[in-house]
Amino acid sequence: MIIAIDGPAASGKGTIAKRLAAHYGFRHLDSGLLYRGVGLAVLQTGKLDDPAAAIAAARSYDPARYPEDDLKSDDVAKAASIVAAIPAVREALIALQHDFARSKPGAVIDGRDIGTVIAPHAEVKIFVTATAEERARRRILELRGRGETVDDAAVLADIKARDERDMNRPVAPLRQADDAVLLDTTHLAISPAVQAAIDIVEAVRAGRRPA
Ligand code: C5P
Repeated sequence: MIIAIDGPAASGKGTIAKRLAAHYGFRHLDSGLLYRGVGLAVLQTGKLDDPAAAIAAARSYDPARYPEDDLKSDDVAKAASIVAAIPAVREALIALQHDFARSKPGAVIDGRDIGTVIAPHAEVKIFVTATAEERARRRILELRGRGETVDDAAVLADIKARDERDMNRPVAPLRQADDAVLLDTTHLAISPAVQAAIDIVEAVRAGRRPA
């Protein structure tokens, strides 16, 4: 079984995907880490403006080379969304995601194009969203929690810029698949949001229309 979770940054999709995977005993892939790895590779070589460098990094992608802790910064996120708009970068990362999608007994994959491009045949598709202001608020809390000094307006502007890039690129733009269920977490804490996702999976499995 494949559960596809798509949505914008800080919508809660990563935590929901992780907890769904734990709940069902499925494997979890955060596909954003792949694009972040390529983004970090081009940042390290100073070639963010060179699509050939991004394509080469994607073609030789090795997850072991990019520990998750190195991929969390906003600079890497921004670089990820720039390289993610290059069709050959996306192409190079497809096989890995398709292999993962075949995991038994099931896979939960989160990203931007899982329900639309990577696994259009996924049994369950959930599109997780929240307003840009609420997503910025969460991100600000997270950064403050790490002791970082935060410019609130800059965080909101970064979130909006990334949404804009991810939704308006010609290839695999961020959008809700026609058969995805919308889960708006603007007014939901993480536990009720996870429960809502479990309810959606259960409804789909039982052949009911999710509420
Ligand atoms: O999900 P995360 O914020 O880690 O993703 C970082 C960036 O990687 C996104 O802003 C997006 O541009 C890109 N991405 C993508 N397709 C995916 C996952 C992430 O284009 N399936």
